[in-house]
Amino acid sequence: MRKKVTIVGAGNVGATTAHWLAAKELADVVLVDVVEGIPQGKALDLLQAMPVEGCDVSITGDNDYGPTAGSDVVVITAGFPRKPGMSRDDLLKANAQIVQTATEKAVQASPQCILIVVTNPLDAMCEVARRTSGFPRNRVLGMAGVLDSARFRTFIAAELKVSVDNVHAFVLGGHGDQMVPLPRFSTVAGVPIPELLDAATIERLVKRTAAGGGEIVSLLKTGSAYYAPSRAIVEMVDAILKDKHKILPCAAYLEGEFGMRGLFLGVPCKLGATGLESVFEVTLTVEEQAALGKSADAVRELVAALG
Ligand code: NAI
Ligand code: 2OP
Repeated sequence: MRKKVTIVGAGNVGATTAHWLAAKELADVVLVDVVEGIPQGKALDLLQAMPVEGCDVSITGDNDYGPTAGSDVVVITAGFPRKPGMSRDDLLKANAQIVQTATEKAVQASPQCILIVVTNPLDAMCEVARRTSGFPRNRVLGMAGVLDSARFRTFIAAELKVSVDNVHAFVLGGHGDQMVPLPRFSTVAGVPIPELLDAATIERLVKRTAAGGGEIVSLLKTGSAYYAPSRAIVEMVDAILKDKHKILPCAAYLEGEFGMRGLFLGVPCKLGATGLESVFEVTLTVEEQAALGKSADAVRELVAALG
């Protein structure tokens, strides 16, 4: 039997995630949205692309959670995106309500699913999903790190004029302006980038990565990024559905790792069929640990504002 993935929110990120998932023939897909006709219409349109693509998957859309029953993975993208001038944190209150409702309904239909939260502000929304679902930490993850490190990889590859295939990048912390790209663990063909680029160049790329979401918002003006975010979501879904034991940067609920406890933060995670298998810890320098602590403080502040 094929795996089943529900995507809550059939907007830019949700629908594009369905597109990547279906084109990779990874799973049957159910799109759910509050707007009548949108999940149904997008699902039908995408389904009609499958004969051309040569993929046998079911893609349906609904305003109800009935058809989502028994999903292996539920991706929550429902919520408002940023507009120019807004930070991810400005979305806190409005999106917390949406994520709570979406989580309640999704886990009622799929009590064994693994939740991947995408809605911003990401780390705080993960906490909403964790509290609402009552799931253990292995089944509540957030997507941000794969996106942030893909942005860092893009900029490193362009700077050095090498294939993106050769570039690995490491980004820790919350999905906000305080994220922590780590040059020391970012490599080109296995060589750490501080051996290939001068400090000023690295600093420029790090800053562009941390501001990567805002750069796209200021260009699009009416919404935020969705091609790279949706592809990043699919990377996590793929690792889970194929039980790959793959290490990807994800938001995970920390229980002492990296010296942090009781909050979601972006860290390297080993993903497999059970969701989060373990956090892949590395030893940080004093400066890196301090930057991570600052990022964690920003997440804690948002979670406190949730009440
Ligand atoms: P969008 O506006 O295109 O789509 C959001 C969809 O959610 C809309 O179709 C809307 O009708 C739906 N929705 C609203 N309330 C709902 C509910 N209660 N149940 C089901 N559906 C509901 O926005 P977009 O661009 O898809 O972004 C979605 C969210 O993902 C935003 O919060 C955005 O900031 C976040 N995001 C996070 C990223 C990350 O790295 N974690 C990357 C990109 C976006
Ligand atoms: C991004 O980084 C909006 O969080 C989203 O593009």
